[in-house]
Amino acid sequence: MSERKILVTSALPYANGPIHLGHLVEYIQTDIWSRFQKQRGNHCLYICADDAHGTPIMLRADKEGITPEQLIANVEKEHRADFDGFGVAFDNFHSTHSEENKHFSSLIYTRLREDGHISKRTITQAYDPVKNMFLPDRFIKGECPKCGAKDQYGDNCEACGATYSPIELKNAVSVVSGEKPIEKDSEHYFFDLADFTEMLESWTKAEGHLQTEVRNKMAEWLDNGLHQWDISRDKPYFGFEIPDAPGKYFYVWLDAPIGYMASFKNLCDKQGLDFDEYWGKDSDVELYHFIGKDIIYFHALFWPAMLHGAGFRTPSAVFSHGFLTVNGEKMSKSRGTFIKARTYLEHLNPEYLRYYFAAKLTNGIDDLDLNFDDFSQRVNSDLVGKVVNIASRSSGFIKKRFEGKLSPTCAEPELFQQFIDANTVIAELYENREFGKAMREIMALADKANQYIDEKKPWLVAKEEGKDTELHNICSMGINLFRLLVAYLKPVIPVLAENSEDFLNIEAQVWPSAAQPLLDHEIKKFKPLMTRVEQDKIEAIVEASKDNLITEQQPEIKKCEPIAEEIEFDDFAKIDLRIAKIIKAEHVKGADKLLQLTVDIGDETRNVFAGIKSAYAPEELEGKMTVVVANLKPRKMRFGLSEGMVLAAGPGGKELWVLNPDEGAQPGMRVK
Ligand code: MSP
Ligand code: ZN
Repeated sequence: MSERKILVTSALPYANGPIHLGHLVEYIQTDIWSRFQKQRGNHCLYICADDAHGTPIMLRADKEGITPEQLIANVEKEHRADFDGFGVAFDNFHSTHSEENKHFSSLIYTRLREDGHISKRTITQAYDPVKNMFLPDRFIKGECPKCGAKDQYGDNCEACGATYSPIELKNAVSVVSGEKPIEKDSEHYFFDLADFTEMLESWTKAEGHLQTEVRNKMAEWLDNGLHQWDISRDKPYFGFEIPDAPGKYFYVWLDAPIGYMASFKNLCDKQGLDFDEYWGKDSDVELYHFIGKDIIYFHALFWPAMLHGAGFRTPSAVFSHGFLTVNGEKMSKSRGTFIKARTYLEHLNPEYLRYYFAAKLTNGIDDLDLNFDDFSQRVNSDLVGKVVNIASRSSGFIKKRFEGKLSPTCAEPELFQQFIDANTVIAELYENREFGKAMREIMALADKANQYIDEKKPWLVAKEEGKDTELHNICSMGINLFRLLVAYLKPVIPVLAENSEDFLNIEAQVWPSAAQPLLDHEIKKFKPLMTRVEQDKIEAIVEASKDNLITEQQPEIKKCEPIAEEIEFDDFAKIDLRIAKIIKAEHVKGADKLLQLTVDIGDETRNVFAGIKSAYAPEELEGKMTVVVANLKPRKMRFGLSEGMVLAAGPGGKELWVLNPDEGAQPGMRVK
């Protein structure tokens, strides 16, 4: 097989925040694939960069009182250290705020313009009159025009799911200044994506470019017709100025994917590679982009169209993956499951996570869950209990009884050959990004190796007279099988693999399709290669992630209504709250909000009207215990006298919950 030339990328992380475990799904996935290719002897280059432009970065720098350049330099340092900590081994990591990227962005734009794919038109947008800037949708908040929910972003409502333009938002404010946005006109530049409809039809449908689920999604989008893409932003903006358009900047998503080329060009200049061989129109180098499913549109439509329109090659494939959830839920700062790469590294071995992600990854776009119990259990049982255990069980006797030297004969050539033969299947699974299946194949081999040792019982053989050769053969066989397992796991856990190579006293392992057993070979003293996951470390990570909330989240707008003005204890004591039992609940003729309740408050019963009809049927309430304000002045209502108030919480409608005391409280007891 001749050596393949491969260029692979991960999406460029935004330079306005830290790397977290969600990001790492992608970087670890790509890194495993790239390491696998290299181990197979292919020429593979793994490229990435920071995505350094855009409004959020500009505003964050502003808030921190530094220049955007300083901010992105600081973040780049952190990102690099995080990737390094997790063994994500880029061949080059660059920045979209670079000379190379400016060059290629201008070049691609100019070529598109010369071919008539750029048009101009004036649009009206929300504008912050204090900050003197146009406001991206995410920087405007207000009330949903459809359902009235407060505190919604300018593009869609998280309460009712409506989408709208920020101009429709009620009582809108700029998140930047708190001021009411005004409307303002401005000329924008558009990329005429529809010019590429035919090209994209055939590119997206061609076998191998996209996963099936993604291809279907693209077909839907294409059927709905492609729209012009707004690629310009007005100053102030942190980005590149558009050629011949003073005060207009490329929208961050225009120059972001071009960052892949820029980073590669930067590497070419360091290593003397031929840029055109990789990006030229007729390139036969394989080019793969690993991305999350949230950014498919950019990579499967805009990007191939831009490349094609500007006379460059298009990607060989775009590989999308799903999103990370933690313990079955979206990562959350309040639950401590929004975990930064750095926080994890302070407590746990990164290779645990690399293995866990590998064990769960498929080549599809389903979300992937990090469940902490499952995580410990899998790492402990597979890596520590199965793989490392083989080495520790076998190496002791080799050292003690045979001066660290392996046997000159291979005891079970067939078993060894089985392990070698498995390489084809495992390689195919790695190649197709079916890492979970690959891990299962490898663990099945590990089970076989352990079975072999269990059956041969070296610890008993060692006690018998004259069985030295047998003991030597068994343990040497164990070591030889361990070595192959580690070779297969090397793309996933490179540090453990390297430490094993050191212990085995061998060269860096290539893909073992033609490996021979180590015979008469001296190994070094065994050192524990991996320890078990400690539960308290996981708890520490969750705790530390909760802390982040307090220091970093203050600018977030609050979820709940503000706490009322402070009161004296005496003020509170004036309110007589009593446990009450609802003995009867009825509809009230003519009332659409009220239910009539008869409540037992110990020494008397009271008639109370409660506005909870939208949330409760009367029969749900009868027999329930609750809390009432017992000394509220009786109120004459249209339907009768209300002699108290039932306590309930919630915004209204179906979302109302009557208070319920804990088991044991009796009617009439005072709440204090
Ligand atoms: N800057 C853009 C990408 C530009 S590529 C030319 C961006 N940055 S990002 O920092 O938000 O995300 C980087 C990558 O991480 C994306 O592919 C994104 O899908 C992925 N992930 C971010 N959060 C994730 C999870 N919770 N789970 C899995 N992947 C996630 O998008
Ligand atoms: Zn709404």
